[in-house]
Amino acid sequence: MLTQLEQIEKAALDALKNVQDEASLEQWRIAHLGRSAPLMQVFDQLGKLSKEERPLIGRRANEVKRGLDNALAEQSEAMRQAALARTLTAERLDVTLPGRPIGRGRLHPSTQILRQIYRIFADMGFQIYRSREVESDEYNFEMLNIPAHHPARDMWDTFHTTAPGVLLRTHTSPGQIHVMREYYPQPIRVILPGMCFRYEQISARKETQFNQVEGLAVGHHITFGDLKGTLSDFARRMFGEQVRTRFRTSYFPFTEPSAEMDVECFLCGGKGCGVCSGTGWLEILGCGMVHPTVLRNGGYDPLKFSGFAFGMGPERIAMLRYKIEDIRYFWANDVRFLEQF
Ligand code: DAH
Repeated sequence: MLTQLEQIEKAALDALKNVQDEASLEQWRIAHLGRSAPLMQVFDQLGKLSKEERPLIGRRANEVKRGLDNALAEQSEAMRQAALARTLTAERLDVTLPGRPIGRGRLHPSTQILRQIYRIFADMGFQIYRSREVESDEYNFEMLNIPAHHPARDMWDTFHTTAPGVLLRTHTSPGQIHVMREYYPQPIRVILPGMCFRYEQISARKETQFNQVEGLAVGHHITFGDLKGTLSDFARRMFGEQVRTRFRTSYFPFTEPSAEMDVECFLCGGKGCGVCSGTGWLEILGCGMVHPTVLRNGGYDPLKFSGFAFGMGPERIAMLRYKIEDIRYFWANDVRFLEQF
């Protein structure tokens, strides 16, 4: 049996010399140290040996086992070192090379313009008020002095939901009613930014969703002069100290009188160019004095209170400011577009 042990040991060590990789090393372990390896069979037979033989063979078998365990560990470590040496030469690192630049995310152009608008109005003492995107017909139209079947409804092509009287807001103006009902009887100075939705044929100039920033001021002595002053100041802060503004009469059911504000074209300085269609002016918002009916719907007595309101489109301002010729870029999420801002 001792000779058998010598043979087992020699065969195992010889076989180990041919082992080159992890997989064959594992095969070697199973063949020479595994459950059914010849060495293990020797251990299994120890019980059958005579009292004199057993300690002798047992000791030798244990020696062989330890020897093979050590040889396995050595071989495994040697292979690990060799593999490390191989990767170190193959994948030589030059730590002095400059790193690869990491692409940084940026704010969406709409967000950038929105934040500038918030900043300017916050500096003038306006609070930001958020209101819902899913609205009732009552708030989106009725309360704003636009009764059912009134021709003025044609100004807003609407997405209706399957629930009767529930729609996606077509403008941020319904927020005016929410603010008034919440703030009454305090004076109000808020802006209401948010997404609006219209059932439009999508084109370079029209999208089915876009942001608006509504403004509302209600108090005891608010005049059209305050409206002009506030919005002209806004334009100067937004487009530059020198920019001129003009107010044109207009019509909105929820304001009386109503106006639209133009700013002098900041691309050509008023000389006339492609962006302002040769007029020298760019329309940027609608505004007016809050209609008495709307004040009343908000809970404010129009004999004691007055107010002004306005609504502007940040995407429109971004398009003019950055010469973006197609509104569809805003929500197409094409990074080649977004990366430019
Ligand atoms: N809600 C109007 C629209 O979507 C914009 C607007 C015009 C808002 C005049 C106002 C306003 O608050 O006074 O076309």
